[in-house]
Amino acid sequence: MSFSARIFVTLFIIFASEAKFLPKSRNGCRALLGDTLIKEIASYKNVKNEIFKYVLDGDFKHKTYDELAKFVDTFGARPSGSQVLEDSIDHMIQLTREEELNDIVTEELEVPHWIRGTEKVTMLEPRIKEIDVLGLGRSVNTPPEGITAEVVIVKNFEELSNLSNKDVDGKIVVYDPIFTTYGETVVYRSQGASKAAAKGAVASLVRSITPFSINTPHTGSQNYDDNIKKIPAGAISLEDADLLRRFYDRGEKIILNITMSSTYETKTSRNTIIDLKGTDHPEKLVIVSGHIDSWDVGQGAMDDGGGLFVSWAAPVILKRLNLRPKRTVRSIFWTAEELGLIGAYAYEEKHRNESHNINFIMESDEGTFAPLGLAVAGTQEARCIIAEILKLFKSINASTLVEDDSPGSDINVIIKNGIPGASLHNANERYFWFHHTEGDTMNVEDPDELDLCAAFWTAVAYIIADISIDIPR
Ligand SMILES: *[C@@H]1O[C@H](CO)[C@@H](O)[C@H](O)[C@H]1NC(C)=O
Ligand SMILES: *[C@@H]1O[C@H](CO)[C@@H](O)[C@H](O)[C@H]1NC(C)=O
Ligand SMILES: *[C@@H]1O[C@H](CO)[C@@H](O)[C@H](O)[C@H]1NC(C)=O
Ligand SMILES: *[C@@H]1O[C@H](CO)[C@@H](O)[C@H](O)[C@H]1NC(C)=O
Ligand SMILES: [Zn+2]
Repeated sequence: MSFSARIFVTLFIIFASEAKFLPKSRNGCRALLGDTLIKEIASYKNVKNEIFKYVLDGDFKHKTYDELAKFVDTFGARPSGSQVLEDSIDHMIQLTREEELNDIVTEELEVPHWIRGTEKVTMLEPRIKEIDVLGLGRSVNTPPEGITAEVVIVKNFEELSNLSNKDVDGKIVVYDPIFTTYGETVVYRSQGASKAAAKGAVASLVRSITPFSINTPHTGSQNYDDNIKKIPAGAISLEDADLLRRFYDRGEKIILNITMSSTYETKTSRNTIIDLKGTDHPEKLVIVSGHIDSWDVGQGAMDDGGGLFVSWAAPVILKRLNLRPKRTVRSIFWTAEELGLIGAYAYEEKHRNESHNINFIMESDEGTFAPLGLAVAGTQEARCIIAEILKLFKSINASTLVEDDSPGSDINVIIKNGIPGASLHNANERYFWFHHTEGDTMNVEDPDELDLCAAFWTAVAYIIADISIDIPR
């Protein structure tokens, strides 16, 4: 790592950890919950310890990592609509059946199948250089001979809108926003093409959405505006975007030749639903989830193999320990997340008439590094209950509650209807280094951190599914 990269990473970690602190104190919680409930929650310490002992030092030690590695090594990337994704779903069903968990259903839905073909960007002026590119999901093609045009670079949409249409017409727009947070920066990837096309651009490229790079482009989804001409869209590395910017600021004319091809059709895939039925209220659900599809680049070990496997592990561990909570623990493997939360939307629609039964919904899709706590959406009272439960995880430093009104990705489709939920808060400062790149491999995952995540996920789900009160809305 270079010195400047080191400084940058250090700064990034400082900023990231600042965001971790609670915005408000939870002093009001004690009165809101009452001593009886607080005592009840504390009484789950023994069950929590039993789960941790089994996962960290017992028969389940490194099982999550080993099964994830077998899965990732066998199937590799699992793009939406591909046969390999369907085969990987069958594998997960088989693996679950071997644990004598037989309450498994799959629900079919239509998903996009976008297959990347040739992708090539060559800088022709001011000098000849190949620029590594990854097309963005559902990008349209260039003509076979490519698009050759001058480049205009903008940092943000305001700079673009300040340009006259004449300045943009017939050109390639390159967005080079500096990564701040994913949410803030990703709009240049997801909306950039249509905004550029509206001003007459013939193609658009975005500086990859990541704080750190070793010359790797990061792909991702994007949406075309229905009323605007669809233009080819891709992502380039930070290094190449910054090179283009330096030429541009020196007033040098930049000409790129972009060739992109892909195919796009619709296929059938499945959401997978596994239930460990509750003893007293089987209709009430505590959901744990992750998505099984991945981008076509990399191996989908981190995004979202880790989240998939900790969510698979939860009912499996409970079943093995013969721990049956009062409510049902449901594990969902979402399909086709990467191309626009397609599986989650289908589930929400199909199960809307039973959404009152979702007591709490959880998702892990932002890394399975060391767990730190939960990012929680819900009322103040709901957050107080979760914060009290998180106190049981002080010994592993996973007691932090981050207030987040839209945590996770897939589960937001459900949380936005007022259903309480949470995503795994973990030490994921490096998550976006690997996200949507060839670098998303098993080497990102750590067996001990996965054990901590699996044990934490399982214990939290068990406690919420078993306590005497529903999580209030
Ligand atoms: C652009 O690239 C394509 C594909 O490599 C090539 O066929 C075409 O001749 C190139 N155009 C120019 C102007 O260099
Ligand atoms: C855009 O134009 C407005 C009005 O001229 C100006 O105030 C603003 O600073 C410009 N923004 C950028 C990013 O150039
Ligand atoms: C919801 O609708 C489905 C079919 O559309 C039905 O099978 C299910 O029983 C309904 N659930 C409730 C709680 O009404
Ligand atoms: C928890 O954090 C403390 C202080 O940072 C550290 O000393 C300890 O090793 C951590 N424990 C675990 C299990 O990570
Ligand atoms: Zn993901």
